Amino acid sequence: MLAVDHGYFLGPTSGLEDFKSTVSPLLPYADTLMLTRGMLRTCVDPLLDIPIVLRASGGTSIIGKSLLHEGITLSMEDALRLNAAGIAYSITVGMDWERDTILDLSRLVDQAERYGMVVVAVTAVGKDLAKDARYLSLASRMAAEHGAHIVKTYYCDKDFQKVVESCPVPIVMAGGKKISEIEALSMAYNAIQAGAVGVDMGRNIFQSKDPVAMIQAIRAVVHDEMAPKEALNLYNSLKK
Ligand code: 5RP
Repeated sequence: MLAVDHGYFLGPTSGLEDFKSTVSPLLPYADTLMLTRGMLRTCVDPLLDIPIVLRASGGTSIIGKSLLHEGITLSMEDALRLNAAGIAYSITVGMDWERDTILDLSRLVDQAERYGMVVVAVTAVGKDLAKDARYLSLASRMAAEHGAHIVKTYYCDKDFQKVVESCPVPIVMAGGKKISEIEALSMAYNAIQAGAVGVDMGRNIFQSKDPVAMIQAIRAVVHDEMAPKEALNLYNSLKK
């Protein structure tokens, strides 16, 4: 899953200033596209034939006072009208506004179930969190217990397998802030080996020196379980 929804709280973030020219060449290598409805309407070819996951939370910005105080920003009707396969909502377990975001998630699941819409819960949102297996298991399991169909969560070096095993719905690994290509490929590889069904990565693809090469290398890790060093070689050979 390619995540390019960042503008909903970051505006024209680095790498996505010219959304169309960055994202269009990546699309042939993405299985699913995660973005906001505004960018889907204005910057994506309506004939694009891969599943779309629409960001359904927001309302706050990186420069505002309470970034985590998100609410629901998308109706189920508009998600259907835009032919989305799923919607994504962030929950802030252990942080401010925890209760509001979990109740919102449950409300969205109720609405989504009526139409067969997939709900992706984005967990571990918040800068000051210890994103260890204990926390990630708690947040991921809570998301699933409240009805999420897919959980997006961060990778942790120790015991990520426990996070996956204690969550009854598929887990996709979030990318997080930009790290080196080999680190990102290794992280994706380890997450897949630990049982993640896939990845939902953004900055480590579109902020890479060569995003088109990087998405192909990540794709090889996810689809072919290509080892990180081999995937880095693939990246280097494709790099322009
Ligand atoms: C924030 C989000 C995103 O906006 C985005 O999908 C993150 O992707 P990445 O960390 O790989 O850049 O989920 O919580």
